[in-house]
Amino acid sequence: MPKTKTRTEFVCTACENVTVRWEGQCRSCSAWNTIIERRDAGRFTWLRSDVQDAVHLADASVEDLPRMSLSSGEVNRVLGGGIVPGSLVLLAGDPGIGKSTMLLQVAEEVARRYSSVFYVTGEESVSQVKMRADRLGIDGQSLYILTQTNVEEVLARLDERLPALAVIDSIQTMYDPELSSHPGNVSQIRECARRLLEWGKANNVPIILTGHVTKGGDIAGPRVLEHMVDAALYMEGDAVSSWRLLRAVKNRFGSTNEVGVLEMTGMGLRDVEDPSKSFLLDRPKGAMGSVVVPILEGNRALLVEIQALTAPSTIPTPRRVATGYDAHRLLLVCSVAMRTCGIPLSDYDIIVNVTGGLKIAEPAADLGVALAIASSFRGVPMPGDVASVGEVGLSGEIRRAPQTERRVKEAARHGLRKCLVPRNTDDIACGEESLHYQRVDTLAQAINMCLPITRHISGAAA
Ligand code: TYD
Ligand code: MG
Repeated sequence: MPKTKTRTEFVCTACENVTVRWEGQCRSCSAWNTIIERRDAGRFTWLRSDVQDAVHLADASVEDLPRMSLSSGEVNRVLGGGIVPGSLVLLAGDPGIGKSTMLLQVAEEVARRYSSVFYVTGEESVSQVKMRADRLGIDGQSLYILTQTNVEEVLARLDERLPALAVIDSIQTMYDPELSSHPGNVSQIRECARRLLEWGKANNVPIILTGHVTKGGDIAGPRVLEHMVDAALYMEGDAVSSWRLLRAVKNRFGSTNEVGVLEMTGMGLRDVEDPSKSFLLDRPKGAMGSVVVPILEGNRALLVEIQALTAPSTIPTPRRVATGYDAHRLLLVCSVAMRTCGIPLSDYDIIVNVTGGLKIAEPAADLGVALAIASSFRGVPMPGDVASVGEVGLSGEIRRAPQTERRVKEAARHGLRKCLVPRNTDDIACGEESLHYQRVDTLAQAINMCLPITRHISGAAA
């Protein structure tokens, strides 16, 4: 690569004011700690500068992007069909979630099916990568491992070999010797990513970067790269569960509504063919406090089990604990159940858990949570073939949930017989006569319908 003379400059991230040295406070906008270092030369050379005529949008055609498709349908789905040559992809997630594992599997496949792959690791030694490869059953033909953290050296090696794909694990360990700041610093992360991006675009080689998210997704992490990369994928999951969700938060070559479901096994990550079935596999029959809820992850409806346990509290302020569900919404649901359904929960500890380590962010699960709590409290199991969808409002009304039809269809596909839906739901062309959807107005109505008190008495006596 031709070496160009470069110099560094300092720029305020708030007002873009440029200075020659670092300062704690920006002279232009007076903001503190907003000045970062960056390289000056050739900053945007990857952007198109050749003169082109404007095209009438009506005459424009959609290019069919060439893609390197992968055997993992779930990873393909999130990428929008495969890896696009020249694209820069960020794979972020908590440390230990499985990023390196996934990328080694992807690298091996691309190396086997296309041509050589460069796997640059700044975190592990070659023997550590080899140990992981052995565990995954990868022999590593055409897969080159480079332990290097100097981005210039990395680019020089990439130039020599021009691989089909380059993996950089992780971008936080890379540094540009032209900059004085430490690796992992925002300016280093940005600059290294920019140089890799420039190289990838110039040579039409796709590059995948990994990035660790710090607790709370802080700014020094991969977030700063989101605007720069073509696709930003996040791998999520619970440390104690084996499910992993792969989510696209940005994708220039595909939809951001796609979510892939993977499972970490002893042999690496594998696709979960039917996530709903897997999530419900361990569901006990006739258990109290267990409800099936179809949630939406991107465009995908997934059935999950919500469990609740109510138990007399031994402390003055009873506990409300939620795992995988918003603690504030749990308080809301409990208060509404107390006020509008007459369920006296004030002396009870309440524990809610979404099984499989999944996290539900949408209010559409409220009805399911309320039913699970009421089921546990009344000692009446929910009928095993009933699912429920709906947001609980403060007056006890059940409010509409987005894409109810998609959820109901997923419930029908898994053999459920009935689904409670909010009253104002549009007609659902279910196409599945086996499932009956039932509109409900209020939480009290839903609870009395599914968990009648008479059954409580006979259930308690049994
Ligand atoms: P890793 O890919 O190193 O995580 P990251 O790169 O995101 O930090 O994954 C580490 C975890 O995955 C570790 O706890 C071991 C586990 N693992 C498996 O369960 N099965 C496997 O086949 C592999 C390779 C790892
Ligand atoms: Mg790793």
